[in-house]
Amino acid sequence: MCGIVGYVGPQQAGRILLDGLSKLEYRGYDSAGIAVRDNDRPIEIVKAKGRLKVLAEKTNNGDALRGTTGIGHTRWATHGEPSVTNAHPHHSNDSSVVAVHNGIIENYQEIRDKLTRHNYTFYSETDTEAFVNLIDYYYKKYSMGPIDAISKAMVRVRGSYAIAVLFKDYPNEIYAARKDNPMIIGVKDGASYLASDVPAILNYTRNIYYIDNLEIARLTPGEVHFFNIDGDEVEKESVEIKWDAKAAEKNGYEHFMIKEIHEQPQAVRDTINSLVKDDKIDFTEAGLTDEIIGKINRIYIVSCGSSYHVGVAARYNIEKLAGIPVHVELASEFRYRSMPMDPESLFIVISQSGETADTLAALRLAKEQGLSTLAIVNVVGSTIAREADHVIYTMAGPEIAVATTKAYSAQLIVTYLIAIQFALVRGRIDEERYTALLTEMQTLPKKITRIFEDTERIQWFAAKHSNDKDIFFIGRGLDYGISMEGSLKLKEVSYIHSEATAAGELKHGTISLIENGTLVVGILTQNELIEKMLSNMEEVKSRGAYVLGLTTYGNYKTEDVADFTVYIPRTEEMFTPSLAIIPLQLLAYYISVSRGLDVDKPRNLAKSVTVE
Ligand code: AGP
Repeated sequence: MCGIVGYVGPQQAGRILLDGLSKLEYRGYDSAGIAVRDNDRPIEIVKAKGRLKVLAEKTNNGDALRGTTGIGHTRWATHGEPSVTNAHPHHSNDSSVVAVHNGIIENYQEIRDKLTRHNYTFYSETDTEAFVNLIDYYYKKYSMGPIDAISKAMVRVRGSYAIAVLFKDYPNEIYAARKDNPMIIGVKDGASYLASDVPAILNYTRNIYYIDNLEIARLTPGEVHFFNIDGDEVEKESVEIKWDAKAAEKNGYEHFMIKEIHEQPQAVRDTINSLVKDDKIDFTEAGLTDEIIGKINRIYIVSCGSSYHVGVAARYNIEKLAGIPVHVELASEFRYRSMPMDPESLFIVISQSGETADTLAALRLAKEQGLSTLAIVNVVGSTIAREADHVIYTMAGPEIAVATTKAYSAQLIVTYLIAIQFALVRGRIDEERYTALLTEMQTLPKKITRIFEDTERIQWFAAKHSNDKDIFFIGRGLDYGISMEGSLKLKEVSYIHSEATAAGELKHGTISLIENGTLVVGILTQNELIEKMLSNMEEVKSRGAYVLGLTTYGNYKTEDVADFTVYIPRTEEMFTPSLAIIPLQLLAYYISVSRGLDVDKPRNLAKSVTVE
């Protein structure tokens, strides 16, 4: 996934483009580039391999390029290794057309072959260069102007794109088009902006437009016009972004990840308050009426990564409380299965970004099969949010660190509320139990905050284990779901091999990996499973493991087995994931810091995987 920006207006574009890219680096950061032009002077392109700061140094923070129109790109390589040659912007053979692109052109090879037959040549290995030359091909062949050249190219390509294009013959104009990749467009004070995500332009305008799939936009200073793929102009209303610009900054924290870990009490509180009104769960905005809920026989939860782990935890809670069978699937697997689905089902997709390609594909498959779909999403107006039948927004605010924390916690809250509301509607719990659960849920922010008091102790432990080679997480039931998320957090930001294993599975293979000193994190918060977990921890300990026990206050037997114990406050068992995950996030964060890694932008990763 990459980040793109564009600016056309009264000011010099270079510095504005770099500032915007700096807010998008979390989307990809192996190379970057900008293209700027001064009225009808030639378009100047400067690119650099590595982090954005390399490009900033090369362009004196953008000031080295003169001009008031420009586009920029920060790359997460899909086709072609990270290099200056493969970095964007890319230009057509005679530089009539210059573009930046986020996405993948799946049939780029056949397009390259076609254009080669028309005497086009290629300097890079990228799919984007094929797209740019294809636009140039139509632009010259039909000389029908940028909108028609772009729309013809859109018809020809297969794949996904958010693309911003400069045409040599059209100074002071930027053209944009999108399919299945995010892009927003803003205008203010005689200037127009485009970007992959809100933080990039939030300092300049809150007045934005969402360009829809297969639409084209023409940006001129302070104006934007939208067209459908047939070239007909379409009217759009702008919306005002309510985000606080500070929310997308570090505010004194060393990294976004630790800031967002500490924002979890607020994210949990805001998400609860957005859905619980006068002590009642209110899904009205999502359109989930009691009548709809009453008819649901089965639930599918399909997502990726941490959002998938939320689904794993939700399955235990929804089945236990609401008595509805829940199928949790990885989106990348689900979309290639031929899974017979019960039409009287609710198909839930969970996604922080609302742009994850596999999750979006799963959502579309479910809609094709006529299922009612619900999206639990953090980014307002994202593709998944706009395509699902029902949407519930998490109120985590902008999450910048690649490793999700506060959005994960906010997603958990939504799944708890679904379990509770569905249980009430289906008569599985009475009003008294309903109220008791909601009352306890309101204490979670305070209980999360209390866990931060243990930070120094966890930080000390993390430093001791920052050079471990393998770290295992084990749990049963809900704790197994938590172990998955704890393991992923660790892997993502510390590059230490880790895996989560259902504790009951250890003896079926994984236990062969346990050696002297291997760190095993045992999670035991579910009362009925504690004894079993203690014996699993004994099993690995007797084979040399060093055991961290993560449990609730009061379960002091853990210290008879664990070498190091971390306690979390007691709460309703269904809510323990919200508390147990905090020490595991802190463990992963401090191990990464001990290893001197770039916590917010781990190697090979991107914040939202908008490619397959
Ligand atoms: C989580 O820390 C990872 N960044 C990743 O697994 C992420 O959860 C996954 O890519 C899904 O992203 P989404 O929630 O935006 O769909």
